[in-house]
Amino acid sequence: MKLWGGRFTKPTNELVDAYTSSIGFDQKLAKYDIQGSLAHVAMLGQCGIISQDDAGVIADGLKQVLNKIQAGEATLSEADEDIHMNVERLLIEHIGPVGGKLHTGRSRNDQVALDMRLYLREAIVDIIGLLGAVQTALTKQAKQHLDTILPGYTHLQRAQPVLFGHHMMAYAYMLQRDVERLQDSWKRVNKMPLGAGALAGTTFPIDRQFVAKQLHFDDITENSLDSVSDRDFVVEFLSAASLISMHLSRLSEELVQWSSAEFNFIELDDAFSTGSSMMPQKKNPDVAELVRGKSGRVFGHLMGMLTTLKGLPLAYNKDMQEDKEGMFDTVETLKGALGLFAPMIETMHVKQDNMYQAVRNDFSNATDLADYLVEKGMAFRESHAVVGHAVLYSIEQGKYLLDLKLEELQQFSDLIEEDIYQALAPETVVAARNIPGGTAKERVQEQVDNIEALLAANKNWTEEQAAKLEG
Ligand code: ARG
Repeated sequence: MKLWGGRFTKPTNELVDAYTSSIGFDQKLAKYDIQGSLAHVAMLGQCGIISQDDAGVIADGLKQVLNKIQAGEATLSEADEDIHMNVERLLIEHIGPVGGKLHTGRSRNDQVALDMRLYLREAIVDIIGLLGAVQTALTKQAKQHLDTILPGYTHLQRAQPVLFGHHMMAYAYMLQRDVERLQDSWKRVNKMPLGAGALAGTTFPIDRQFVAKQLHFDDITENSLDSVSDRDFVVEFLSAASLISMHLSRLSEELVQWSSAEFNFIELDDAFSTGSSMMPQKKNPDVAELVRGKSGRVFGHLMGMLTTLKGLPLAYNKDMQEDKEGMFDTVETLKGALGLFAPMIETMHVKQDNMYQAVRNDFSNATDLADYLVEKGMAFRESHAVVGHAVLYSIEQGKYLLDLKLEELQQFSDLIEEDIYQALAPETVVAARNIPGGTAKERVQEQVDNIEALLAANKNWTEEQAAKLEG
């Protein structure tokens, strides 16, 4: 007999049970479901909706049910559809009919909305922590490479030299925005929906604020229809997660390129690389490739959730049960990637000589020759053309600008003097970008100092929230 079986005259078709049940995946919510039920039953007792004695018996029973589930000793059944009804069934089996009082003034619709928020709060705190570890690893590499110069690229063509530290900090700031996006979503996730009932509220004199306090929510949701229909917070999380995945994927792509023989800029640690079953010489950047590849499923979950929601009338519809697997998978995919990225970046060996050679054997100081002529009075558009000719000449000679003799350079402009060699040296070229956000060493150092302050603030935020969630 189903918990809702009263108005039915025959059992559900087994295929229907198998198709509609969510217990196969929503058992992940057991802990949050019971956490929410404990707050709900405490409130029922407090408000005199059920007796304090009954509330106490139910609370004890719920804790035992959680222990049983966590120990793998509880039988969860498809016939009970989802985690909410499985818990209720187990509770009643455990403490008898008094367990049937738990669901007073509540529906699975507001219950599942609550569970999703409880789950996501923890996931957000964890993910911000993991992002912090990757940012820290990037910052460590940056600090070790405040003198390491490599070509910066546009169109994947060597463009202007930059410090490797500058390149690392670019990613640290992308991830910082990701952290801030998740923190910002907090004010929308951290609202308590229970009390919405099935859709219209409840006739019982419940105290929603009491429940919100117990569960450390900042506030309660404002509208019962919205409370049970809203999955914006899931979409918002999937969207933030997609951006994180996209950032990690771009960095992955660079790691893959840099560790190729063609670039030969870095070597990933053996512990974070894999071999080939056929080619003994191979060392593959599988982790980076897979992180790049897995961005696809995260983007897919975002599209899936938006599509599921877009045509739904108010309020709850069963379609919304589809909110879970994509969210769980996204959380696990991100945690896996971020957990690996921190040590992989930290242990990455940077081949600074190869990077330097790539800068030296290149025309990435061409802009600086143009700027040099501008400083000596030539209009930039004219100097651009002059340098274009000089580059063409060099290519024909099989040389780079710094290899040309002074007389050769002076064919293009008599403004060029002996100091040109100093001006075009990679170190000078980098140091000259000395404006806020530029690649000059002290500017990269500023970025490092700034990100370290932000990282400390992120850490405080995370610890504060984690303490509340545990408390
Ligand atoms: N398993 C359902 C879900 O995840 C719980 C809510 C079900 N509500 C209902 N009226 N069938 O969405």
